[in-house]
Amino acid sequence: RAAGHKIADLTGRHVLVSAGGTREHLDPVRYLGNSSSGKQGYALARIAAARGAKVTLVAANSELPDPAGVHVVPVTSTRDLFDEITARAVDADAVVMAAAPADFRPADVAEHKIKKTADGSVPAVNLVQNPDILATISHDRARKDQVIVGFAAETGDAEHSVIDLARAKLERKGCDLLVVNDVSGGKVFGSDMNEAVILDRDGGALPVPSGSKDALAGVIWNLVDARWQ
Ligand code: CTP
Ligand code: CA
Repeated sequence: RAAGHKIADLTGRHVLVSAGGTREHLDPVRYLGNSSSGKQGYALARIAAARGAKVTLVAANSELPDPAGVHVVPVTSTRDLFDEITARAVDADAVVMAAAPADFRPADVAEHKIKKTADGSVPAVNLVQNPDILATISHDRARKDQVIVGFAAETGDAEHSVIDLARAKLERKGCDLLVVNDVSGGKVFGSDMNEAVILDRDGGALPVPSGSKDALAGVIWNLVDARWQ
C-alpha cells in the first residue's frame, strides 16, 4: 500500500494504544521518570485513526498534541496506566503497548515536599515493583480474537543477542507481536526515525528498515490486520 494513499481498512475496529513514559512520585513535586517521547505511540494512534479505526490513546506525560479524531486519556503512573488499560482492553480489538512504564515506584510517597536536613543526612528511596500491564492483559485475554502488541528496547548482553532476549520476552509476556528496537551503540531516544524487527508468536521475524515512526506504525497495523483476518 503506497504511503499517503491509505484506504480506511481499519473501519469498524477499536484499538487501544498506550504512549509516553510514566512518572512515579517521590513527593508532590518530584518523581522518577524516563525519557520516552511518546512519538511512536502517537504515530500508531494517528495512523490507525487515519485508516478508519476508533482509537483510544492512553498517554503518559507526553507533550505531543492530541491526534485528530483520537480519544486521549491522560495518566501519570504505571498503576494509573494499568487501571486504564485493563478496564478498556475489554472493548478493544487490538491493544498496543508503546508506552514505557516505570518498572519500579517508591514504596512511600511523601505527603509534603522532602526537605534537606541540617546534619546533611541523605534520604533513602525504597522501591517496589509495578504490575506488568502487557503480561496481565495477554495472560487474561479479554477477548479471544484480540491482537496484543508489545515493544522492547534491548541492547543484548555477553551471552544473548537482542533477538534472543526479545524472543524470550515475547514468550514471557504472552503477546502476539513484539516490536524490537536494538538500542545498543547509544542509539538515541526521541528521534523521528525508527528501525525495528517485529517478532510474532508463531516464530516469524519481520525486519523493518530505518524509516519514520509513521511508516513503522503502518507496518504494525498491517500485521495486526493480518492477524484479524
Ligand atoms: N510493559 C508493561 N508493564 C510494565 C512494564 C512494561 O506493560 N510494568 C510493557 C511495555 O509497554 C512494552 C513491554 O512491556 O510493551 C516490554 O517492556 P520492557 O520494559 O522491555 O519489559 P520488562 O518486562 O519491564 O523487561 P525489562 O526488565 O527488560 O525492562
Ligand atoms: Ca521495563
